[in-house]
Amino acid sequence: MPSSVFEGACDMHSHLLPRVDDGFKSFEESMEGLAFLKGKGFVKAKMTPHFMRDYPENTRAAIEQKYQAFLQKAGDNLPVELTLGGEYMLDSHFLERFEEGFLTLDKTQSLVLCETSYMMMDPMAKEMLYQVMLKGYQPVIAHPERYMYANMPIYKRWKEREYLFQLNLLSLSGYYGKPAEEKARQLLKEGMYDYVGTDLHRVSNVENLISSIRLSKKELDRLLILLENNKTL
Ligand SMILES: [Fe+2]
Repeated sequence: MPSSVFEGACDMHSHLLPRVDDGFKSFEESMEGLAFLKGKGFVKAKMTPHFMRDYPENTRAAIEQKYQAFLQKAGDNLPVELTLGGEYMLDSHFLERFEEGFLTLDKTQSLVLCETSYMMMDPMAKEMLYQVMLKGYQPVIAHPERYMYANMPIYKRWKEREYLFQLNLLSLSGYYGKPAEEKARQLLKEGMYDYVGTDLHRVSNVENLISSIRLSKKELDRLLILLENNKTL
């Protein structure tokens, strides 16, 4: 993949806010992560911490406070422009997060990054997404290629329900296994993705993984469209 593809790009999915989930572990590590993104050409990044049953302390207010503290500590030293969003697990805590208002991905405050567990979709997930759409939110399904239960008929049903899809860049490297890579390439070629993110949890080895990605001309063209879409966020 040409190294210039990320020039001017926006990373819309990351776990760069330190010590709030399974992502970055310290302020210093996070600054390294941001410097890494800058080195790849990114100019913007969204911190999208996990909101899920596993992290009950991650209320909207708590995350906003930690984000502000991070900005204050970083001062003028931020390598890229930052904004705050969230990644919302469709689990038993989802409706609580819905009630406090989602941290969205975009300026119009409608795009909500949602994920399901890797093994199965919560039986209530369809209804939860229906309810958020009734309130004017637009679900973006994080890394659909990674869900073991998902296949093309399911992806087509999701698209019929007008969910948007976000590709995890590293899925194309095989980092999440061969089935995820194959599904990612198929969804990419079929033009079913809308956005792309790194879902960065740590920096180690990511440089090598990104360099190892080989794309056909069609796949690269599709990826460039996603990177353009990201710029609208
Ligand atoms: Fe994530």
